[in-house]
Amino acid sequence: MSPQQQLAQKLESARLGGGQARIDKEHAKGKLTARERVHLLLDPGSFEEIGALVTHRTTDFGMEDQIIYGDGVVTGYGSISGRLIYVFAQDFTVFGGSLSETHAEKICKVMDMAVKVGAPLIGLNDSGGARIQEGVRSLGGYADIFHRNVMASGVIPQLSAIMGPCAGGAVYSPAMTDFTIMVENTSYMFVTGPNVVKTVTNEEVTSEELGGASTHSTKSGVTHLTAANDLDCIVKLKQLLSYLPQSNREKPATLPYTLGDEVREQLESIVPESANQPYDMRDVINGIIDEESFFEIHENYADNIVVGFARLAGQSIGIVANQPMSLAGVLDVESSKKAARFTRTCDCFNVPLLVLVDVPGFLPGTDQEWNAIITNGAKLLYALSEATVPRVTVITRKAYGGAYDVMNSKHIGADMNFAWPTAEIAVMGAKGASEIIFRREIKAADDPAAKLAEKETEYADKFANPYRAAQRGFIDEVILPKDTRRKLIKAFSALEHKEVELPYKKHGNIPL
Ligand code: HXC
Repeated sequence: MSPQQQLAQKLESARLGGGQARIDKEHAKGKLTARERVHLLLDPGSFEEIGALVTHRTTDFGMEDQIIYGDGVVTGYGSISGRLIYVFAQDFTVFGGSLSETHAEKICKVMDMAVKVGAPLIGLNDSGGARIQEGVRSLGGYADIFHRNVMASGVIPQLSAIMGPCAGGAVYSPAMTDFTIMVENTSYMFVTGPNVVKTVTNEEVTSEELGGASTHSTKSGVTHLTAANDLDCIVKLKQLLSYLPQSNREKPATLPYTLGDEVREQLESIVPESANQPYDMRDVINGIIDEESFFEIHENYADNIVVGFARLAGQSIGIVANQPMSLAGVLDVESSKKAARFTRTCDCFNVPLLVLVDVPGFLPGTDQEWNAIITNGAKLLYALSEATVPRVTVITRKAYGGAYDVMNSKHIGADMNFAWPTAEIAVMGAKGASEIIFRREIKAADDPAAKLAEKETEYADKFANPYRAAQRGFIDEVILPKDTRRKLIKAFSALEHKEVELPYKKHGNIPL
């Protein structure tokens, strides 16, 4: 056999992975293979494979007779819309995609290269976990990856797709990346599986209930996104990437945009007359941003706050917005964590932040206090205070109490703060405030209810508006809703070259 033929044979063997029968089995489950995924993810013909001929070094349990080129993971680089991307895709057809020492070395190699050149890393996870035959060498391989995940955090975007099993300590690599997306019905993530759960706690639970895509997108928030199938997952990964830069040394790409009539009349009729009536903050978002550009993150988790990427005149921005439709838009433990995490992701990758405010305050109750709303609310306050990207606020209605301060107020470093004429910026709502400060007067009145109503009106006239805050300069401008898009385009454009130096520190100490 000629050297050329020898090479071709080895590469063909690598391409086949665990063999056609196993590939067919994966297809029957509705899954694509690692190679199919990589080729769909990257621009056609752009994939350059690294390490296709790597094999494991295990000699225990008869493994020396089971050599499969590539060792269960396809690694390399290519492009997405012309942008350089590093990728690894675990191949379930080879030893269940399990992670050996050499499998880990291949992943580490592309991670190191991605950081060196400043390009995103996408991991397509589909693995039975640690290669059982390798023992501690496999665990060491995981730790080598975890350490690199942390070193790369905030340097390059790291995206994780969960496209099959992801169990045990293996879950901690995706957990430390910027975004996780799970494929519905074919993927699951858990630290300990249903059998162990049954043994330890006597709970009966399926893999899907314990750690499927719907569980992690609604209950735990472990996954940021879900996908209907492998193809949908790949499409969403590409969309997500389009809002992010190559690394922390760059800004996200701006799409070409020619300014036109930026007035949006539909924004005038969204906030209802009554302060207690809900409305969908997504209508405000969609009225402001470029058409159909909203890419929501954590859509079904802590839905009293909405976060996601969008484009404004072609520029990538991150949006954090209270959602009056859910729990009146109140801040609680989960929504604070969700918004804090998203804020920090935007800040490390130079994505400007737009904060839309309609918040009645923090959610009261023992549940909240015992679950540390103090520490968790502080996360959002800390994250926004620390962010140095351009930060613009629009108060659409309520901005009450401590939540006013937290939601990107001028006082914590926001650059431009707008309010609609419907804004109410006060320590609390008019009713609660009147009951406290006019308590004696109301009690002594012949008709306490009428007195309360009178005092409520008096308080509301004084404070349930944006003008006190505007007089102080806490609001830069009171604007008509229909002008919001126009004003924001100008504000973000003016802030394009904003530079802020944080005081020297090793790192801050965010209240985790
Ligand atoms: C070696 C493995 C493997 C593993 C699967 N295989 N997992 N080989 N090490 N961890 C092999 C199987 O033996 C089988 O080989 C092939 O992959 C396909 O697996 P099946 O069981 O046939 O597939 P399926 O029925 O789809 O079940 C998938 C599975 C199951 C649920 C993932 O394979 C499984 O339970 N695997 C073990 C999971 C596990 O306990 N991993 C270790 C977790 S501890 P053949 O040749 O028979 O086809 C861990 C610690 C990480 O990961 C710590 C990091 C810090």
